[in-house]
Amino acid sequence: MKQQIHFAPLQGYTDYCYRNAFDEIFGGVSCYYTPFLRVERGTTRNRDLYGIKKENNRVACLVPQIMAGDDSEFDLLMGVLQENGYSAVDINLGCPYPLITKRQKGAGILPHPDKVEALLANTARFPHVDFSVKMRLGMSQSDECLAILPILEKYGIKQVTMHARLGEQQYKGEVDMEAFASFYEACSLPLVYNGDVQTVDDLQRISEQFPKLAGIMVGRGLLAHPELAMEYQTGKVLSDSEKMGLYSRLHAVVYSHYQERLNGGEPQILDKMKEFWEYFYPEMDKKRRKAIKKATSISKYEAAVVF
Ligand SMILES: Cc1cc2nc3c(=O)[nH]c(=O)nc-3n(C[C@H](O)[C@H](O)[C@H](O)COP(=O)(O)O)c2cc1C
Repeated sequence: MKQQIHFAPLQGYTDYCYRNAFDEIFGGVSCYYTPFLRVERGTTRNRDLYGIKKENNRVACLVPQIMAGDDSEFDLLMGVLQENGYSAVDINLGCPYPLITKRQKGAGILPHPDKVEALLANTARFPHVDFSVKMRLGMSQSDECLAILPILEKYGIKQVTMHARLGEQQYKGEVDMEAFASFYEACSLPLVYNGDVQTVDDLQRISEQFPKLAGIMVGRGLLAHPELAMEYQTGKVLSDSEKMGLYSRLHAVVYSHYQERLNGGEPQILDKMKEFWEYFYPEMDKKRRKAIKKATSISKYEAAVVF
């Protein structure tokens, strides 16, 4: 049986423009997640709001993610999401950035079950919302997740996505499949696997090894090879020329969106597009890739981009 594929939230990459374009051109993904919304200087950031507005989003399933530092931030973020019509919300328990973890937020909360309990107790005030969590095995020990599990069950969390790494590892080093297997065995909640899925073979291997999964979440693998979920779901392998045609369309849609949104501001457009190329199409000719990275004007950028 095929697993449902979820597109991981990737701050700076999977904004609404990218999600819409990806879904229209490639698809194969059941659900998308927004990068986390947070409170900054007592309010939400404008760019986060654009990212969740229904009129900006055309994908069938979009789950906004939040990271709240305390009860009032939780309420503020939930207020905004409810006003915007969302009834499913993902809670970030996995962000590894030291500025966040040292405040016992993101993955930094995982060694503190009492803090996780206090955070998740907020969900009880929103009985009509389906809450999910996205977490790691732990901050520095891979069994921290097992101590958190009863709290997730107690608060009726509807789905757990497990990135099979420690917070300390950030995005490097191996995923720990053994520790994931222990969590999988212990977890009675719908569980989504996440971490380092790059190929259709990876998707097949994980779904065979863990047949009770509720899905597999993919991030960088989809940024690199946007056809991955589509090929897995349809069983059809795109020819090189079909692939290049779709890559070129994805690039064109994203590029024209940023040109419009950033009002022709060359440095900003170039920054955004260089970010787009950071993971995308790693097999690309090295010289072209370097030219894109170094482009100091739109004309140099456009000359470098050839599919
Ligand atoms: C640049 C970048 C930004 C990310 N932003 C978020 C985020 O906003 N929320 C989140 O839960 N995870 C975030 N992640 C983690 C990914 O969602 C995912 O868990 C991680 O990359 C492992 O999956 P992958 O190997 O399929 O990419 C981010 C990862 C990267 C590399």
